[in-house]
Formats: sequence, structure tokens, C-alpha cells
Amino acid sequence: MDKINSQNIQHVAIIMDGNGRWAEKKELHRSQGHKKGLDNILPIVEELIEQKIKYVTLFAFSTENNKRPYEEKKNLINLLDDSLDNINKKIDDNNINLTFIGNLSSLPKKITSKIQKISQKNKCASSVKLIIAWNYSGRSDILNAIRRIKTKQNITEKELESYLMTHNTPDPDLIIRTGNQIRISNFMLWQSAYSELYFSKKLWPEFTKKDLNNAILEFEKRKRNYGNV
Ligand code: IPE
Ligand code: IPE
Ligand code: MG
Repeated sequence: MDKINSQNIQHVAIIMDGNGRWAEKKELHRSQGHKKGLDNILPIVEELIEQKIKYVTLFAFSTENNKRPYEEKKNLINLLDDSLDNINKKIDDNNINLTFIGNLSSLPKKITSKIQKISQKNKCASSVKLIIAWNYSGRSDILNAIRRIKTKQNITEKELESYLMTHNTPDPDLIIRTGNQIRISNFMLWQSAYSELYFSKKLWPEFTKKDLNNAILEFEKRKRNYGNV
């Protein structure tokens, strides 16, 4: 695939929505949609690496997704476990540094220790920082920051940012949401202040490298003003 001019993008974040509807369309169980969605992560990440994007955040499970039936949550946690094993196999070939944002405290110990181990890899010389947002919400991120800084006076934007889970990541330049829903669903509320938003009608399991490149091409056409003229 042609290399496109992605030099203005440091950070791409993706709200990977539409797994359930993909499964329903194919008359499959929702869990098969999640499995197919998971299988789509690596090819898309490989293309982002190809496009020299330095930071990639994937919204995999929101705080509000805890409202889903127990069976679906259990299935998603099992898939997370499997995907950690799969990513672990590829992490060195692709020189990926994998980290997580979100509240991981309810995950089984065996998964959190896997995450801890994997996130130590390629810390310095990574080609891409891959961040998985799991049990994450923008509001809880901001709320937790406020709880921790409550005694400080005259806090600045920069200081508040240093308390967010994304403190070592630049704000996303481009946020892509698949699945034909035009909303943010509590993702990176602070960090998206000046992100360019791209909504795709494609359901996540069917979102291709070409669709990704169309989003990047669209981004390249946008003029970012940051309030200026
Ligand atoms: C996104 O797909 C994955 C998660 C939110 C965990 P959905 O499961 O929301 O799929 P739809 O929106 O029901 O199609
Ligand atoms: C957003 O999708 C969260 C993730 C993709 C992880 P949802 O399916 O949870 O969003 P809503 O509920 O339709 O807003
Ligand atoms: Mg959804």
C-alpha cells in the first residue's frame, strides 16, 4: 500500500465499535463478533506502524461496558487474555511497546501480571506505543485526577494533565470511530479538545487498512486552527 503523508499525526486513537452488529448481520453470536474484532487489531496496528504513527490508542472496553451481561464481559476478558498472548508473540518483531490505561483492578491477577510483564518490553526503543484503553472512561480519568490533586491551589492545565492516565502521551491528533455511531462515548474527554474526529460507517471487524488510510487522507485535508484563524 502507498505510503501516505502521515507526518502531521503523532497519535491516532480508535473507538473500535460494531463487533456485535457485525455478528448479528452474519447471524453469529456476539462473541464471534468480538473475536473477529480482536483479529482485526494487529493488521490495523501494523498499517499504523507502516505509516510511522508513534502513538496508537485503542478503546477496547469502557467503564460503561460493565453494564453488559456477565457472559459477554467474561467472554471479552477471555479474549483480552488470548490477545495478550498473540500480541506478545508479535511485539518484538514489530518493536511495539504495549501499555494500558483504565481501571484494571477487577481483572484476574493472571491477566494483570501478564500485562505488567509485556509492558516492560521495548520500553525505550519502540517503533510504536500501543495503548489499550480497558475499563476506561474519560470522566473517571478526570475525576481520579481531581481527587488526587484536591489539596493543590491554582492548578494549571499542564498540571492537571500530568495526573491523567495519558500523562506521557500527546493528545490524539485523529480519533476514528467505526460502527456508524456519531459520538465519543466517554472516551478521552479532556484529550480530545482539539482532536480531528472521523466517523466510519464500517463495523470494526470489517474496517480495513484502506479504510484507515482514507481516514488519514481525510485528516491531511483538514485545517487545524486551535481557535486561531
Ligand atoms: C465494540 O463493539 C466492542 C465493545 C464495546 C466491547 P460492540 O460490542 O459495542 O458492538 P455493537 O455496537 O453492539 O455492534
Ligand atoms: C464504545 O462503544 C466503547 C468501545 C468501543 C470500547 P459502545 O458500544 O460501548 O458505545 P455506546 O454504548 O454505543 O455509546
Ligand atoms: Mg457498540
